[in-house]
Amino acid sequence: MKVLISENELRQGLTRMAGEIRAHYADKPLTLVGVFAGSIVLLADLIRLLDLPLRVELLPSRHGGKGTNKPSPVVVDLDVLVSDIRGRHVLLVDDIFDTGDTMWELIPQLDELGPETVRVAVLLRKQGRCRVPRQPDFVGFDIPDAFVVGYGLDYNDRYRHLPYIAALEPEELREAAS
Ligand code: IMP
Ligand code: MG
Repeated sequence: MKVLISENELRQGLTRMAGEIRAHYADKPLTLVGVFAGSIVLLADLIRLLDLPLRVELLPSRHGGKGTNKPSPVVVDLDVLVSDIRGRHVLLVDDIFDTGDTMWELIPQLDELGPETVRVAVLLRKQGRCRVPRQPDFVGFDIPDAFVVGYGLDYNDRYRHLPYIAALEPEELREAAS
């Protein structure tokens, strides 16, 4: 396992991103929508860095193929959103932007509910993987194309607790899968 982003660097990047988010939304009614379980750690830290009136919602977890972290198409029953997002600004919060498929599928579904805007904040963006015509609006860190864990990101349910972001070596990916 190789540490890509230390705990200290994570804190600095998050503080910068939170500053951008705060400046962007200033006096607007904002709802953060955490995307699945992977966003929880990020969401908790972001809330504490955002000195703004906020509503917070969480979309439920889905389960994908074992070890792939690539779930099937995203269809979310948006009735789980407790508060009305009509007329509010929605910021989707996710751990990592890989191919972008998740965000690309979620944005139109949220748009149907009549928010003012839907934007996207991610902790990590993988280089050279995007296959949708939209990029996240707020990005903590750009990382190389490796499988990463820690800070809420898992591999087969492991490593979520790590306070830093680490890339798994190919042997570790094989071991954990067997
Ligand atoms: P996308 O739809 O391809 O952008 O993938 C987004 C989701 O795939 C993320 O929210 C993660 O749950 C998962 N994912 C993609 N890459 C990684 C990784 O390197 N480590 C852990 N999970 C990942
Ligand atoms: Mg996720």
